[in-house]
Amino acid sequence: MKLDIAVLSGDGIGPEVTAQAIKALEAIAHAFDHSFIFKEGLVGAIAIDKTGNPLPDETLELCVNTDAVLFGAIGAPKYDNDPSAPVRPEQGLLKLRKELGLYANIRPVKAYPTLIDKSPLKREIIEGTDISIYRELTGGIYFGKKELSADGTVASDLCEYSKPEIERITHLAFKTAQKRRKKVTLVDKANVLESSRLWRKVVTEIAKEYSDVTLDFLFVDNAAMQMILNPSQFDVILTENMFGDIISDEASVIGGSIGLLASASVGDTCCMFEPIHGSFPQATGKGIANPIAAILSAAMLLEHFDLLGEAHAIRDAVEKALELNITTPDLNTDNPLTTEKVGDFIADYILNPEDSNLNFENIHVGQSTII
Ligand code: IPM
Ligand code: MN
Repeated sequence: MKLDIAVLSGDGIGPEVTAQAIKALEAIAHAFDHSFIFKEGLVGAIAIDKTGNPLPDETLELCVNTDAVLFGAIGAPKYDNDPSAPVRPEQGLLKLRKELGLYANIRPVKAYPTLIDKSPLKREIIEGTDISIYRELTGGIYFGKKELSADGTVASDLCEYSKPEIERITHLAFKTAQKRRKKVTLVDKANVLESSRLWRKVVTEIAKEYSDVTLDFLFVDNAAMQMILNPSQFDVILTENMFGDIISDEASVIGGSIGLLASASVGDTCCMFEPIHGSFPQATGKGIANPIAAILSAAMLLEHFDLLGEAHAIRDAVEKALELNITTPDLNTDNPLTTEKVGDFIADYILNPEDSNLNFENIHVGQSTII
């Protein structure tokens, strides 16, 4: 298969981790005889520095005319600490999601057996967790009308949803549930918010079309608690934009590191794949960022194009790296490897699983050059 892939590596650790995802995809192209063509575009703080715009027209054009977008991370402290900045890196990502119509953001959360003891949560709580979070991505409070009074003392953000916006992601969530454990949990705040009551109504109606799937409801405050009390009760979580943002960061604790969580953002015509972590500015250039979330995002890209064996090869390599503790300091304090070395191992394992196995001895005596 030939795929054009736009690469928007962005800010902070974005370029370092995205480079490892590309390495994994190049290994896949080689091993499975595909042709992946990567074209880079500017986005985020780096784009503001270079062009004054967090999403230059050129970048948007590139993304509209490509098969898939591979995204790194955006954000920089100089904007985080300046609430009155006239342009912000995040605007680039939000505009991209909106312009590409990426209304469904899918975030898988899994307790990897080899990492269970790395989570701050107890083994018996997280064992068996396997959740697919469906976060609505182009509506709600993120995109509603924003107002600041003339004297700068009153501000508001409108949370608005329409029936079609709820319907389209709901169908995707139910279709996924049919292929999994057949349960959808709608997370909302229907005891308080009108928009949540519309979600309940629309989702309940659609659920009738999927009689093999059970639908249940949780208020978001309770869902936040259930996520750390009993996460294995969840199969597919369906939720609006901001609740999904918060719940998915919380859920990342289950896996032991936010550096493991990948995501896919899909719409009717475009798709984008990105780690859920941010730009982690303090780590930039130090080689300590975990590339696995970016690499697993590349696996989600392959799945999106039905390259299931290929995605599996990436997941196998990642699982091997975790099993052998070939990991960055977030997961490995005794003998951590760099971002690049973890990426090298994974790419190498994709190309040649047997040889990498044989190098097992070297890894544990601390020889960082294993390939
Ligand atoms: C995410 C991020 C973004 C969001 C930010 C960077 C705008 O936190 O993808 O989860 O809030 O959606
Ligand atoms: Mn987030």
